[in-house]
Amino acid sequence: MVSLHRILTKNTENVIMGQNIIQKNRFFLTLVACVLTTIYFFVYKNPEQIESKSNFYLSAYPSLSRKEIDVWMTNRQLLLTNLSKLGEVLFLNVSEPEAIDKRYEILIWKYGYTIENRHLKQYSHKRIDPFEYCPVKNCDLRFSDKSISTADIVIFHLHRIKGVDDLPKRQDSKQIWAFLTDESPYNTFLQSKNNTLKNYNGLFNWSMTYRSDSDIPVPYGRTVLKKWPIKRQNQIYEKKLDVLVAILGSNCGGQNHRWDYVKQLQKFIQVDVYGGCGPFKKSCPGHFKSDCPAIENYIFYLSFENSNCNEYITEKLWWNAYAKNSIPIVMGSSQTTYKALLPPGSYINTEDYANPNALAYHILSLNKSGEYRKYYRWQEKFQVLNEHGYFGSKSYHYCRICQAVNYNNKDHKVYNDLESYWSVKRDCHSSWDA
Ligand SMILES: *[C@@H]1O[C@H](CO)[C@@H](O)[C@H](O)[C@H]1NC(C)=O
Ligand SMILES: *[C@@H]1O[C@H](CO)[C@@H](O)[C@H](O)[C@H]1NC(C)=O
Ligand SMILES: *[C@@H]1O[C@H](CO)[C@@H](O)[C@H](O)[C@H]1NC(C)=O
Ligand SMILES: *[C@@H]1O[C@H](CO)[C@@H](O)[C@H](O)[C@H]1NC(C)=O
Ligand SMILES: *[C@@H]1O[C@H](CO)[C@@H](O)[C@H](O)[C@H]1NC(C)=O
Repeated sequence: MVSLHRILTKNTENVIMGQNIIQKNRFFLTLVACVLTTIYFFVYKNPEQIESKSNFYLSAYPSLSRKEIDVWMTNRQLLLTNLSKLGEVLFLNVSEPEAIDKRYEILIWKYGYTIENRHLKQYSHKRIDPFEYCPVKNCDLRFSDKSISTADIVIFHLHRIKGVDDLPKRQDSKQIWAFLTDESPYNTFLQSKNNTLKNYNGLFNWSMTYRSDSDIPVPYGRTVLKKWPIKRQNQIYEKKLDVLVAILGSNCGGQNHRWDYVKQLQKFIQVDVYGGCGPFKKSCPGHFKSDCPAIENYIFYLSFENSNCNEYITEKLWWNAYAKNSIPIVMGSSQTTYKALLPPGSYINTEDYANPNALAYHILSLNKSGEYRKYYRWQEKFQVLNEHGYFGSKSYHYCRICQAVNYNNKDHKVYNDLESYWSVKRDCHSSWDA
């Protein structure tokens, strides 16, 4: 009886507690509803208020359709030809082949330590393992020239090589020799002006450059399809509306007269110039060892390269514009290569405007109508990657070499006429004011 009474009492207590829980939950639910309604009113019902704070979001513009993406992909396939197997993996949505079951030795001839700051330390103080984030790991990196007798592939960094005498004697015809350059054909031999490419004819088997048709492509950045498309409709960006355009630079020259273009543009629209070439020197040094957060505040960024050469598209675009959610205004590569390499509808090309005046007018009208938002549609379906080791991004140079020796065709190949592959004449075009 006693125990039964206890049970009954306990049950009554439970019922009463249960009512309390329901009452508490009701109160809590009402509170949540109030908070959500408030957020809804402030964020979604009041775009004007957001606008006055110079913020914007993207819901006015629909996503890219499957058709638009397929058209872009087909165009890319038509334009990017002569790709190596690795090139297909990097540029054509082809899946990674299996690694070969052996180890490869990679020798960076003579200048391994000179370039490790960028490619192994990524300008930090710590050496990283370049294969840790690489799809293949069966490679050993060597900097000692003694490895010439055992290496499977030897990389010659043309920026540093002083002359043909700087190269070793070939001992093994199966050993692959590759030349590396990260600069445009105007600046291939950065350290020795007396060098000419002709002297190297018949020495190299593979190329390693930013161009997609290199045996080992090492572009500064890349456009890839997102594996899992996301909705960015409600993404909010904070940008200045009083000054719309910025540029950052430490090299105040350029074969393409880019700074003259900036000066002309400034007659019609304000452009804030950061780095050594303008009034905001102090806030940003303008070289790629230290980032410039200030340029994030602008809707448009002038991604003007130092040379007008095909596919020479550097961190000025991938980092200073895209990674900062700014719309790039480009000068440098050809119209067709920009089309093949950048996400669809993501940039403005100076070549599409008769003169700086016409471009300035277009920028101002995009701002006035709010239409600049449509340049962000690509972000739901595409992703851009920075791959050259600047600003703490990962350098993929050594990973790409390892992928190439695993995936590429190793049939006999020699660059007998280097200038037919790599030259100003083949790849570069005149400046805007020529
Ligand atoms: C593709 O490569 C072949 C030889 O390998 C060459 O003759 C041809 O000019 C190249 N095409 C392009 C567009 O570079
Ligand atoms: C890219 O490849 C994936 C898987 O191989 C495929 O599902 C997708 O449709 C491809 N995308 C395009 C645009 O070709
Ligand atoms: C430049 O190259 C030529 C021929 O290869 C050579 O005779 C000359 O001494 C070189 N000059 C310098 C400054 O190295
Ligand atoms: C950009 O548009 C905003 C909003 O219409 C306006 O306040 C601002 O003055 C415009 N900026 C320029 C540089 O014209
Ligand atoms: C590499 O180039 C050399 C010429 O310098 C040639 O003798 C050798 O057969 C080539 N090797 C391959 C794998 O193409």
